[in-house]
Amino acid sequence: MRQWKGAWLPHRRVPGVLSFQRRFTPRPDDVLLASPPKCGTTWLKALSFATMARAAYPPGDGDHPLLRLNPHDCVPLVDSLFSAGQEAKLDALPSPRLMNTHVHHSLLPPSVAHDPGCKIVYVCREPKDMVVSLWHFYKSSKTTEGSTYTLSDLFENACQGKHSNGPIWDHILGYWQESQATPRRVLFLRYEEMLRDPVDSIREVARFLEVLFTVTEEAAGLPEDIMKLCSIETLRGARADKMGANKVFVKFPHTSFFRKGVAGDWVNHMTPEMAQRFDAIVEEKLHGPGLSFKS
Ligand code: A3P
Repeated sequence: MRQWKGAWLPHRRVPGVLSFQRRFTPRPDDVLLASPPKCGTTWLKALSFATMARAAYPPGDGDHPLLRLNPHDCVPLVDSLFSAGQEAKLDALPSPRLMNTHVHHSLLPPSVAHDPGCKIVYVCREPKDMVVSLWHFYKSSKTTEGSTYTLSDLFENACQGKHSNGPIWDHILGYWQESQATPRRVLFLRYEEMLRDPVDSIREVARFLEVLFTVTEEAAGLPEDIMKLCSIETLRGARADKMGANKVFVKFPHTSFFRKGVAGDWVNHMTPEMAQRFDAIVEEKLHGPGLSFKS
C-alpha cells in the first residue's frame, strides 16, 4: 500500500491513478460512478448501465449484456485502464460514457472534479459491512496471499484507514461534501437505502442522469424490469466468464462479486468490542459534517 495525498492505494494502482489525474480528457456528458471498493459498485454499475442503455438493450431481453457479462465488463474502471496503458479504450466508448473509479474525490482529475457537465453517482455503505465484505472478497481470491488474509489483520489496518482506497471516512466525506455543494453534479447514494427500495433508487439515478422513465416506460414496468435484471440472484447466475470478471479482476471468480448482498452482516464476524471501536473512529471523523451510519 502507498499513501498519496492522504489516500491509501494498492501499490500497483498508483501509476494508473497518477495517469488518470494527468491525462484523462473528459467529455461534457461523461457519467462517473464512484465508490469505495465493496460498497455496491457492481450493483450500481449494473443499474446505471441497464438504465442508460435501455433503448439499445431492453431490460426484459433474454440476451441482455448483463445476462452474459459481469457488470465490470460493461462499465470500465478508469484508474485500472490507465494502469494497464489501455486508456485508448475510453476514447473508443460512445457518448455518454459510463465509467467507474474508486479514488477519493480529492484524487479525481481537476477537469472531472469540477467540470459542470460531468455527473458523478456515488455509493457508499456502512463501514463495518465494507470491511467484512472486503475480507470475504480477499478470501475468494485465487492467490495464496489473498486467501490467508485474516479479518483481524484487515480490521487493524482499517482502523488506521489503511485499506484499499481508505480511509473510508475521508472517501465518504469528500463525495458527500461535493454532493451538498453541487447536488446537480454529484448524487450521493447509500447501499442500505438501495436495498430498502431498489426501484426508487433506479428512478433516482434516472432522474439525476436526466434519462427519466417516460409514462409509457413506467406503465410497461421498466424500472421493475431493471430491478429484476440487476438483482444479486440474476447477476450471480449470469453466463459470464466464471473464472475472472475481466483483466482487472482476473484473480477473482465471477461469483466473488455477489456474496450475501445484505445490510448488517458485520454482526456475524465482528465482536461487539471491534464494532464499538470502529464505530467510535468513524463517528468521530464523520460527526462534525453531520453524516452518520449509526442505526
Ligand atoms: P457483501 O459482501 O456484503 O455481500 P462491490 O460491488 O463494490 O465490490 O460491493 C460488493 C458488495 O455488493 C457485496 O456485498 C456483494 O454481495 C454486493 N452486491 C453485489 N451485487 C449486488 C446486487 N445486485 N444487489 C445487492 N448487493 C449486491
